Amino acid sequence: MCGIIGKIGKVNCMKDVLEGLKKLEYRGYDSAGVAVFTDEGVKRVRAVGNISALEEKLAGTDLDGRLAVGHSRWATNGNVTEKNAHPHRAGRFTVVHNGIIENAAALKTAYFENDAFESDTDTEVAAKLLDKFYDGDVGRAIRQTQRLLTGSWALGILCDDCPDTLFAAANGSPLLVVKTESGCYIASDAGAVPDAVEVTKVENREYAAVTAGGYTIFNENGDALQKAPLAAAAGALSLDKGGYDHYMMSEIMQQPEAVRRTIEALPDGDLLGGAKEIRLIACGSAYHAGLVGARLFEAVRRIPARAEIASEFRYADPIIGRDTLCIFISQSGETADTLAALRLAKEKGAPTLSIVNVPGSAIATESDRVILTQAGREIAVATTKAYSAQLAVFYALALGKTEALGRLPEAIYTAIAENDGKCRRLAERIAGCRNIFFIGRQLDNAVSQEGSLKMKEISYLNSQAYAAGELKHGTISLVEPGSPVIATVTDPAILSKTMSNLHEVKARGAFTVVITTRALAPGLEADVTLTVPDVGPLLAPSVAVIPMQLMSYYTAKALGCEIDKPRNLAKSVTVE
Ligand code: AGP
Repeated sequence: MCGIIGKIGKVNCMKDVLEGLKKLEYRGYDSAGVAVFTDEGVKRVRAVGNISALEEKLAGTDLDGRLAVGHSRWATNGNVTEKNAHPHRAGRFTVVHNGIIENAAALKTAYFENDAFESDTDTEVAAKLLDKFYDGDVGRAIRQTQRLLTGSWALGILCDDCPDTLFAAANGSPLLVVKTESGCYIASDAGAVPDAVEVTKVENREYAAVTAGGYTIFNENGDALQKAPLAAAAGALSLDKGGYDHYMMSEIMQQPEAVRRTIEALPDGDLLGGAKEIRLIACGSAYHAGLVGARLFEAVRRIPARAEIASEFRYADPIIGRDTLCIFISQSGETADTLAALRLAKEKGAPTLSIVNVPGSAIATESDRVILTQAGREIAVATTKAYSAQLAVFYALALGKTEALGRLPEAIYTAIAENDGKCRRLAERIAGCRNIFFIGRQLDNAVSQEGSLKMKEISYLNSQAYAAGELKHGTISLVEPGSPVIATVTDPAILSKTMSNLHEVKARGAFTVVITTRALAPGLEADVTLTVPDVGPLLAPSVAVIPMQLMSYYTAKALGCEIDKPRNLAKSVTVE
């Protein structure tokens, strides 16, 4: 969470830093700020709100220079106020930070007991340490500061005495140094930098000194390193809105391609390595993909499998060992709980496999084996194409690369084309409701969990997903006349059971929607029926999720919500 960027250029670079910040806004949008080296020294401007609020403040100034840093914040320590917005300053140092310095309070007491602090942030402590240790050698100050810090950080650092060098340091938060024709950048994500010539990762406890013409990365002892640049990401999917109003819709539309590329890139052979038991560990939508994966491994491969929420797994003292394959699923590859769970699994001697969308991310790097989903960069906070790509990996792991799997991208495309208009109309009806329920059994339940999360995270309506048979054990009391209940029924073996549950809520006045396949639709009674192509019950989550995504998108749009950047959320969650 939080995005940092910095540029040292051959010409003025404020415009590039602001453009980059816009691309990093998905990482947090509580406040934004920039600092720039001018002829009168380092100047900073900060604003509560998103980058446009910052741009408004900058509009009346001609602030610019050859060295600038920027920050977009997802608040962790300290409220959302201008004084807590980055960059932070202490003495001769100006700092932007992504991460959490866990021992900030202890360091404050140990080193700055009598000092006044400008902000309530952990970042200011790091800035003060840099200033405290500075004796004319910024590298030494960084080394001494990093030695004291615990937690995670990607720091962009300006020193008043060094107008020609941008410094950076990292531990546990992503930080890249990017060389371009017009100068060098530091950034949380290479996607924020146009026309990269070379990208190098600053690894844990390393630091970098960056100039307009190049950069040097040092280890924690101050030795200059010869590091291999990262391989360029293979043919990223579109990075713009593709003519749609929102990234989310553009990303929904990219799903057939994301799934096709992911299937194509998968290595052949059995990647489960003879596991006797499988745990699938993740957060949010990635956990929902894990629910599908676990069901498939049990149903098809008859391997005991269960999905677990990473933040629970890491504190559960899990009973795992070398026969338990632990699979970690993450779009960003950065999620703090998933990363901690991965480290725990390794400590316990379990083999680890990660399914990650961002190459070079911490989870991808630290797991024994990695499968990269090929969804391209995902910008909307609500995931769509990365979730679909994760499902494709599970199908391939459980079933192999079957012909049916090869036809899945086309089926996803059809599901989008045939449901777009219907979901737009249905959203007008849903937008006026207080509570929404998603129900289903087995895989239909697993995909309903994802549909419900999508709805609540972007429309802010109270949406819940339940195993269809569970509703009558309490939750049905929430169903009011007109409450939408969305049942997914794609498996003929359990169709009649879920439909009975739908009739039970209909009898209590619910507005019923059924998501089903073309073959099963005739004869199903509901107020609205949404059909998806017949791909068989095992692959059905991939097509059933499509109307759920579209319904959520259009409901949020009807309600005037900030679709790509829902309130209180961030794209990558690097705090516990
Ligand atoms: C999805 O729409 C959410 N924004 C969120 O639940 C997300 O899936 C979760 O935070 C996990 O992120 P990751 O895949 O990057 O680990």
